[in-house]
Amino acid sequence: MIRFDALRVAYDDSVALHGLDLEVAEGEFFTLLGPSGCGKTTALRALAGFVQPTSGRVHVDGRDVTDVPSERRGVGMVFQSYALFPSMTVAENIAFGLSVQRVAKAEQRERVDRVADQVGLRPEQLRRGVAELSGGQQQRVAIARALVLRPRILLLDEPLSNLDAKLRVQLRGELQRLQREVGITTVYVTHDQEEALALSDRIAVLSEGRLAQVGTPREVYEQPASAQVCDFVGEATRLTDAQRSVLAGLDGEEDVWVRPEHVRLAVDGGAAAVVRTLAYRGPSTLVGLELAGDPLLAAVPSASAAGLSLGDPVAVGLDADRVHRFGAAR
Ligand SMILES: Nc1ncnc2c1ncn2[C@@H]1O[C@H](COP(=O)(O)OP(=O)(O)OP(=O)(O)O)[C@@H](O)[C@H]1O
Ligand SMILES: [Mg+2]
Repeated sequence: MIRFDALRVAYDDSVALHGLDLEVAEGEFFTLLGPSGCGKTTALRALAGFVQPTSGRVHVDGRDVTDVPSERRGVGMVFQSYALFPSMTVAENIAFGLSVQRVAKAEQRERVDRVADQVGLRPEQLRRGVAELSGGQQQRVAIARALVLRPRILLLDEPLSNLDAKLRVQLRGELQRLQREVGITTVYVTHDQEEALALSDRIAVLSEGRLAQVGTPREVYEQPASAQVCDFVGEATRLTDAQRSVLAGLDGEEDVWVRPEHVRLAVDGGAAAVVRTLAYRGPSTLVGLELAGDPLLAAVPSASAAGLSLGDPVAVGLDADRVHRFGAAR
């Protein structure tokens, strides 16, 4: 459906993408994930036709669109700043692209009503000015405005980042439902790994303009391809040599990384550690341990963390078969 072939984008003084190869399947919810500056927005803009690659090609539906102007690519884009027209009503904002295309008024109304319903805007909200809407409602307008043009591909650049945590999780669920309902191929950009894991069919992890891994959320989280991915997606501690020598079964040359949920507390014959921090997270509690002079994170069910206090000694063990080993960086 979408294919990047050795896509390279250089700006005046820097290279944003160093030859990216990527394929997105029809109907997929595909996420570009990575830290700030890794090239996510650049990749999206190259797909939309807002930035011209230095080299490499972009294919959509088997057609090379690298030199096709943006408006003829069948791509709808929602920007992080919603870029709505503040002086227009909600309905006028959603219909904007249809007016530009000179679609008949009656059909405009019909399509606006339909898409507004899909994104969860109420009919009476359509007549309001966009300035009267909350951030979450404005976000729905921005998505409706893209969808009303019936693009083949929907591009979303950090669409939820301006919203508070609760609303973000709610809209995340709605977005997933909407995408399934409409069946539209979606490329989503975020630097929020939790959001990426929750929403995506597949994730591409980018690092400094390069593809670090592509896979399902489960693959990326449970089988990270590199220490970088392991560190960026989810929490993980890289064990020091001293930590490895007090924990059993960790011989070898490679670096060993461990996720907090694979650290066990109160283990018979475990290594001696001390509780330094406790962060209650509802169902689980993140326990910051000091082991052999360095930190180690453990996540335990809150029920079993209830008895812990700062400074407590605990005996620590690992699920040795769940640790991640990567070629030594040393
Ligand atoms: N118009 C531009 N001119 C020059 N350099 C740019 C331009 N746009 C982006 N860059 C640079 O290209 C690199 C990638 O930027 P990009 O915006 O794609 O990152 P991003 O992953 O979207 O980051 P963020 O999460 O902060 O939005 C960065 O180093 C950035 O400074
Ligand atoms: Mg960006």
